[in-house]
Amino acid sequence: MSRARIASTLVAATVAAVLLSGCERPPPDVVQSGFRGTGMEQVYNPRRLEKVIAANEVPPALDPVDPGGPKAGQVYQNVKVLGDLGVGEFTRLMVAMTNWVAPKEGPEAACVYCHNPANLADDSKYTKIVARSMIQMTRKINVDWKAHVANTGVTCYTCHRGQPVPQNVWFKPAPLTHDVKGMLGDKALQNSPATSVALASLPYDPFGPYLSDAKPIRVIGDQALPNGNRASTKQAEFTYGLMMHMSDSLGVNCTYCHNTRSMAEWNGSPPQRATAWYGIRMARSMNNEYMEPLTATFPAHRKGPLGDVAKINCATCHQGAYKPLFGASMAKDHPELGGVKPGSAAAAPVAVPAAATSPTSATTSSMGPATVFFAVGSSAVDADGGKVVGDLAAALKANPGAKVSISGFHSAAGNLAQNQELAKNRAFAVRDGLIAAGIAADRVVLEKPMQTEANISGEDPRARRVDVAVR
Ligand code: HEC
Ligand code: HEC
Ligand code: HEC
Ligand code: HEC
Repeated sequence: MSRARIASTLVAATVAAVLLSGCERPPPDVVQSGFRGTGMEQVYNPRRLEKVIAANEVPPALDPVDPGGPKAGQVYQNVKVLGDLGVGEFTRLMVAMTNWVAPKEGPEAACVYCHNPANLADDSKYTKIVARSMIQMTRKINVDWKAHVANTGVTCYTCHRGQPVPQNVWFKPAPLTHDVKGMLGDKALQNSPATSVALASLPYDPFGPYLSDAKPIRVIGDQALPNGNRASTKQAEFTYGLMMHMSDSLGVNCTYCHNTRSMAEWNGSPPQRATAWYGIRMARSMNNEYMEPLTATFPAHRKGPLGDVAKINCATCHQGAYKPLFGASMAKDHPELGGVKPGSAAAAPVAVPAAATSPTSATTSSMGPATVFFAVGSSAVDADGGKVVGDLAAALKANPGAKVSISGFHSAAGNLAQNQELAKNRAFAVRDGLIAAGIAADRVVLEKPMQTEANISGEDPRARRVDVAVR
């Protein structure tokens, strides 16, 4: 990809940078990114761009090796994840991981960053335990989150860039010393300009609510008051905090994902907004399914002020570029990180775009009802739910006349009023997923069931669900 192409797709960091850009040398460039008259433009600063380009250069791939030979699982003693790889590939991946994560560690071989050199099978170093989960996480991203990472995929390098601790991670913030109730009252985490929100005076923890918890991000009402919208100004400020982080991490303006005529409307939004929607859910699920469970494994000096583990946000992978490494795929040289063995028939999905297979299977299948399940207390669509939503969207595209109605349910455990809110948010989450996947909003009808409490006792997982019916 040429630098001019990269330049034309990139933009300056923040709204603040845009406002200040008149004073900067060399002068910023403006590139139109929407239809004429919509004012959808990307502003980029050549000086900032040089830095981002340097940070996103791709290291050369290791030479391929013969995938045959005895399996690592048979040759070695303590291989729990990579047992299917041939010994040659296994060793090649160990060398690549060393280059990606710990090239500068240790005087001799950097293998000792994860290994006890006296016994490579030993699991006494926490870094090895973490690395094992990281291999699983990387595979999960490449296999189950194609809606975000496409076939470009990720490797350890996408986040680590030759460092044991990725440059951009987040922790739950300790309260600032001056952020106490005083003469000015509770500052509600704001008015303390922080880099997490690109130095705006917005709430400075835009991550906890959205990339760990699944608080609703959409705050704009679609009905006239007094009905409908209950979101507060404070909630909107948190949403803006997240949006500042997203823009900053990708080096883009708000108009990369929104037509600012209406921030809420999906119809006018560029397709990148749907990619971003999946990105939010992917980061959340990585944090909850892989990072949080490692809390006890990490030593204290790697944890945040409140004892939580370092977590992932958009900047962890993107590092200022609209696509990490400007869209270069390092994963293609490491099909073993796609969760499948290279050379086997099962490797095919890595090379075939998901879009090329799903429409054909959808046209042949007629539409039926579907169910999306949720975790306790959560309205977040997880990876399995995302698949159901993706299949539904494909089926709706193949059946342009069809509409669906969506109803949310909750279990019998807990507080009824809160649960009803939860059931509603579950329905919203599935609706938003369909709309983000390109389904017109008027084909998705929310239908409040007579009783949101599923007719199943206790904490039965089948109760926490959204039913989708074809109309
Ligand atoms: C970033 C951490 C990391 C680095 C660096 C690393 N390894 Fe590993 N290594 C692992 C993990 C994790 C496993 C276990 C994989 C599994 O369970 O599938 C492993 C397993 C092994 C095993 C199998 C041992 C056994 O008998 O069970 C060998 C051999 C090995 N590594 C060699 C190396 C060599 C040689 C290097 C340096 C070139 C290296 N590793 C660098 C993480 C690492
Ligand atoms: C999506 C981003 C991401 C990817 C991909 C990723 N990691 Fe990590 N990794 C992290 C984060 C975040 C941490 C926590 C940082 C810390 O150690 O405090 C971490 C920590 C680690 C650590 C512990 C380092 C230390 O000194 O504490 C090791 C080892 C590691 N990763 C290995 C790997 C390997 C090997 C791969 C590829 C198979 C990989 N990671 C892929 C984000 C990622
Ligand atoms: C990389 C894409 C991307 C960028 C850049 C971006 N947004 Fe968003 N925005 C989204 C997505 C996706 C959602 C919906 C999130 C969801 O539903 O989970 C959203 C939602 C919103 C909402 C809530 C809409 C509603 O329905 O209530 C507002 C307001 C908003 N963005 C403002 C902004 C502003 C202001 C900026 C620039 C500082 C910005 N966005 C930059 C992707 C983006
Ligand atoms: C695990 C690494 C990773 C994380 C975390 C991540 N992304 Fe991405 N993102 C990617 C990769 C890889 C691509 C390139 C996919 C492709 O080639 O189409 C991408 C592509 C995108 C695109 C499409 C750009 C375009 O021009 O087509 C958007 C928008 C985006 N990401 C937004 C986000 C947002 C917002 C977040 C945080 C909520 C996020 N990403 C978190 C890896 C990541």
